[in-house]
Amino acid sequence: MALSVQPSSSPLLTSEADEKYANVKWEELGFALIPTDYMYVAKCKQGESFSTGEIIPYGDISISPCSGILNYGQGLFEGLKAYRAKNGCITPFRPNQNALRMQTGADRLCMTSPSEEQFVEAVKQTVLANKKWVPPSGKGALYIRPLLIGTGAVLGVASAPEYTFLIYVSPVGNYHAASSGLNLKVDHTYRRAHTGGTGSVKSCSNYSPVVKSLLEAKSSGFSDILFLDAATGRNIEEISTCNIFIVKGNIVSTPPTSGTILPGITRKSISELGRDIGYQVQERDVSVDELLEAEEVFCTGTAMVVKAVETVTFHNKKKKYRTGKEALSTKLHLMLTNIQMGIVEDKKGWMVEI
Ligand code: COI
Repeated sequence: MALSVQPSSSPLLTSEADEKYANVKWEELGFALIPTDYMYVAKCKQGESFSTGEIIPYGDISISPCSGILNYGQGLFEGLKAYRAKNGCITPFRPNQNALRMQTGADRLCMTSPSEEQFVEAVKQTVLANKKWVPPSGKGALYIRPLLIGTGAVLGVASAPEYTFLIYVSPVGNYHAASSGLNLKVDHTYRRAHTGGTGSVKSCSNYSPVVKSLLEAKSSGFSDILFLDAATGRNIEEISTCNIFIVKGNIVSTPPTSGTILPGITRKSISELGRDIGYQVQERDVSVDELLEAEEVFCTGTAMVVKAVETVTFHNKKKKYRTGKEALSTKLHLMLTNIQMGIVEDKKGWMVEI
């Protein structure tokens, strides 16, 4: 049966929307949804091309109870940010990379994905439609959340007959409030991904299983959780929502994206910036022992940007790392955000003008 994704509630009345906008405290943005005015929606039948998408008022969607996403978790999401540059331009960061990653994920989950051009165009349209929600320069970013979900009805396990590509946005600030650095717990009970699974794609179903571990860590005073590889339990893999790097001397190491780790776009950008300033950046297995011997540890992600890790706890062992002005992560954070906010010239061609 044909499925529809229709806004099932009316958009905010203009005055309500204006009032909500006026109440945004740009200085205090965290990482929580602030509904904006519009979202983008396109649909397609399996194996066909996506329709030209539409910008429609932001609101709830109606979906078949029998859809692929609701029953079998057939869905991917992406995350990227648009910034208001010093000169007033609004610039998304490397949207084509998210488009390509969505295509890889769609292949793994047997879904039809939008073309790179449609993805990038959809991002631009959605940001433009919500441009008043892009925070003032230096006060955060507009987080862009593209979703690709199986919305066709599918009772037996199969790929859905219809897909929806949807983008919504929200202004955001810091993902973690801690200004100094994260206090990580190494998880020795749960695993995030295994060889041959979906750890390397941004499948919606990769994220809900980390919540139990995250809540347990938070209830013991940690800021986040670091997962080990499922095969040996000896190597570090990924934090709940972001990639990890360790630093020792001139060598910066990060686990390889060989099947169980998400190929982060911030990870890739930071590796490039690290090499630019003379560090040897290695993608290789990193053991917990090495982690505990590192001088510095930091993590990268769209939401997280670049964040220093202050401590890591493994069983009862707690290690403290370099943070602050002397830390490489502080330097890399500045290099990246200077490009993103248009403070330095973007010689990489990472920022897309709209
Ligand atoms: C992102 O950084 O875009 C993420 O995917 C994090 C998100 C799960 C909160």
